[in-house]
Amino acid sequence: MTATTIEWHAVFGLDELWEGDFLDVEVAGEPVLVVHLLGGEVKAYQGVCPHQEVMLADGDWDEESSVLWCGGHRWEFDLRTGEGINPAGCTLYEYPVKVEDETVYVGVPQDGQRHYNRCPGT
Ligand code: FES
Repeated sequence: MTATTIEWHAVFGLDELWEGDFLDVEVAGEPVLVVHLLGGEVKAYQGVCPHQEVMLADGDWDEESSVLWCGGHRWEFDLRTGEGINPAGCTLYEYPVKVEDETVYVGVPQDGQRHYNRCPGT
């Protein structure tokens, strides 16, 4: 089994995304939500909701709990993990992220797959 190659893309400087905030960006043609969690960790997820593809960056956000409510129908996601809270079990696709020299990079696996989860039955 061979490891999947990751193509890294510089998306912005870390000083452009303060702790407790998020940005939506396009990486290699894919919509991505990048969040800078309180405490310093940076995460990247699919940029559209797994329900009906509303942009997650248009939702409401509580930086203390790291919960994001989609602006479409109020589904809730924990942006520390990407896990769905309500409904449970609907997980956001998570991209690899690295921060080097104060620059945030999002990794796109070169696996020929769409990096995007939809929730069955929704
Ligand atoms: S589109 Fe996000 S909850 Fe419906």
